[in-house]
Amino acid sequence: EVWNPSGKYRVVSTKSMPGTRWIRLLTDQDCRVEICTEKKTILSVDDILALIGDRCDGVIGQLTEDWGEVLFSALKRAGGTAFSNMAVGYNNVDINAANKHGVAVGNTPGVLTETTAELAASLSLAAARRIVEADQFMRAGLYDGWLPHLFVGNLLKGQTVGVIGAGRIGSAYARMMIEGFKMNLIYYDLYQSTRLEKFVTAYGQFLQANGEQPVTWKRAATMEDVLREADVISLHPVLDKTTYHLINKDRLAIMKKEAVLVNASRGPVIDEAALVEHLKVNPMFRVGLDVFEDEPFMKPGLAEQKNAVVVPHIASASKWTREGMATLAALNVLGKIKGYPVWADANR
Ligand code: DGY
Repeated sequence: EVWNPSGKYRVVSTKSMPGTRWIRLLTDQDCRVEICTEKKTILSVDDILALIGDRCDGVIGQLTEDWGEVLFSALKRAGGTAFSNMAVGYNNVDINAANKHGVAVGNTPGVLTETTAELAASLSLAAARRIVEADQFMRAGLYDGWLPHLFVGNLLKGQTVGVIGAGRIGSAYARMMIEGFKMNLIYYDLYQSTRLEKFVTAYGQFLQANGEQPVTWKRAATMEDVLREADVISLHPVLDKTTYHLINKDRLAIMKKEAVLVNASRGPVIDEAALVEHLKVNPMFRVGLDVFEDEPFMKPGLAEQKNAVVVPHIASASKWTREGMATLAALNVLGKIKGYPVWADANR
């Protein structure tokens, strides 16, 4: 699909993206926009090489693509200087290769913070209150009357929420769980989240002033402290060498038997095979997963676990957010091409 065929700068999007604002932004600034209409979900390096062709000024790509030496050198040969992921995470991008070939790399932070936090909160509730299991039970026609033991789950109020990685999304999630469900907080991050701490303190005082039990917060000295103490744990680190298999067999073993573990960051942060074994022998341990180690596949055995809620990487999937991500990705590429500031520069 081609927009503004006579535009001076050739910008390729490897996927169709929501809305038209991002297209207008580019075409209004003398860009010819080419959107790949290939039906297969994940494009190979060869597919993308064909899209880059002989002349290309910039590319908007997706987190499912492997942006490394081959693609950045091809983009440079084609005269390109700009690449943006339509995602905040850019573990699929080799920044060193991009730098080597003089290609600016952008990402799309900010617009997906609350949306992603909401999904992590949804997964926390769905897992804690066994919503998917109960839904399947209803649909299977198995409900034959109210019972005291039917789908008993965990009450979040007064429990402790554990956040690993208190950046933008982790902090937004923490606030939702604290304000929404009056949970106490324990978090682990390399940096101190003073804003989050101030929020919990102020909210605790507000509750107290209204005659309610205040909420508390604690910055954990180690990640293990969070795993041991929290009832609901949500993972929000970036994926790199240091966070690969952050949650492994040993760390699962120190978590509470009835804990809820949520991951809306990147799949390889959890050793998924170890998780499947843990779920099998700990039926009261529950997990809510938006991302998977071998995405789009699940490790064998995961789909059979009733104590797992699984959704297909939809954390940022709200219309407003996806349109915002597309717009920011376009702004990043446009900025570099036209010499305006790149909106979100991942090279920084
Ligand atoms: C991201 O932006 O990194 C998410 O995984 C997709 O929205």
